[in-house]
Amino acid sequence: MTAVVAPGALPLIGHLVPLVHNRLEFLRELPAYGDLVRVRVGPWQALVVTSAELTHQVLQDDRTFDKGGYLYDRIRETGGNGLVSCAHRDHRRQRRLVQPSFHRDRLPGYLQVMSKQIDEVLGHWRDGRAVDVHADMQTVTARTMLPSGLPSSVMAQMIEDMNVVLAGVVWRSILPRRLDKVPLPANRRYHRAQERLRRIVTEVIADYRSSDTDHADLLSGLLAFCDPHDGAPGLSDAEIHDQVLTFLLAGTETTANVVSWALHLVARNPDIERRLRAEAAGVAGTTLDDLSRLTLARNVILETVRLFPPVPLLTRITTKDTRLGGHFLPDGTTVVYSPYVVQHQGAHFADPEDFRPDRWDGDGEPLRPPRGALFAFGGGARRCVGDTFGLAEAMVMLSTITHRWSMRSLPGSRVRPAQSLVLGPRTLRMRPQAATPGACS
Ligand code: HEM
Repeated sequence: MTAVVAPGALPLIGHLVPLVHNRLEFLRELPAYGDLVRVRVGPWQALVVTSAELTHQVLQDDRTFDKGGYLYDRIRETGGNGLVSCAHRDHRRQRRLVQPSFHRDRLPGYLQVMSKQIDEVLGHWRDGRAVDVHADMQTVTARTMLPSGLPSSVMAQMIEDMNVVLAGVVWRSILPRRLDKVPLPANRRYHRAQERLRRIVTEVIADYRSSDTDHADLLSGLLAFCDPHDGAPGLSDAEIHDQVLTFLLAGTETTANVVSWALHLVARNPDIERRLRAEAAGVAGTTLDDLSRLTLARNVILETVRLFPPVPLLTRITTKDTRLGGHFLPDGTTVVYSPYVVQHQGAHFADPEDFRPDRWDGDGEPLRPPRGALFAFGGGARRCVGDTFGLAEAMVMLSTITHRWSMRSLPGSRVRPAQSLVLGPRTLRMRPQAATPGACS
């Protein structure tokens, strides 16, 4: 069986126009053409998996559908051989070493760090004065991973560099490689951002190692478990460097974007806002017990990652001839799996375009994102290692903000998705108004 080519391809450039101009609409239409749809841009071609069943098959067999393809080839330019981008042959060893830093026992320590950073950023908000919500959420999530002593200017530069790199990954995976070496301003910006990130990560690692104390944050955990210790082999210096950079890229933008979208959605749903505020009363969000009481905040975050999965599409490469849903896929085929495509289908979620947090009521453990047709955190052996960390952080951020502030959209503002690897709002400025308990202005 041959996969159908998605409509709208133009000679030479293929589907470049819809992918650049209206990527999400284009993706939403693909299931109408089959469970495996061919998309092409210039000389590259990929098969997009549109059904939940085939997506599970791809994710469960990470040896045959290995990390690779247009997107991962570009992610590796920055993330190197870190946990997100490493191939199957290196994955299990890396995951074994990294996993303990996400152990449930460490979460209360991380919650303290998160709370402190949220307080710090919210401390600058003033009643009625518009804020750049997206930038502030990025500051919180970056600060929960980086040393508290890092100067604000360095932190701001890092965040900007991460944005440049994440947007660059998407462009570079679509455009021909021969453009890489052309001294275009975009290429120069991308390389400068990469270099700065590498340099700062080297300094941060050196700083942590020299201080020899557990700061109770994620980087301390990562270094403690991944450095060779007590005669046990760990990761090499180069691997640790890739790992830290990977964590920053994978863990900062994702969570920040989820909370930004959540605040935007909640502002348009006063009843949810009122209920969130009532739930947050008396819950500090610094213990596991606190988290288990934030069920609505959890449901809002799950519904947000369903509607706006931070990573809307990801690639794999087949490592041998194989079959998928009755189709023959030769060795070296690029396959795209898309949380966005599956999560917007009525077959899996009733009224898929509606924001309905209560659909998640009673679904799964409080701190474990459910599986089923929710692929926002991936699946199989390559499932997000930071899923609980990210979910907890997003819940606490949302709950703390709605407890203290009523977030109002600015009149006339239009919130549109950005063109980056991570699906965030292009800009999101909102006006915080001091909240009255139980009320919603
Ligand atoms: C709401 C927040 C987050 C979302 C939606 C998310 C989403 C994802 C997705 C979809 C994958 C799978 C990628 C693939 O299949 O190719 C993934 C993997 C990964 N994520 Fe997350 N992520 C989030 C937060 C985090 C955080 C906070 C961290 C770290 C602190 C993190 C670190 C990673 C790593 C290291 C992997 C690779 C896991 C492996 O291959 O073993 N993520 N994430």
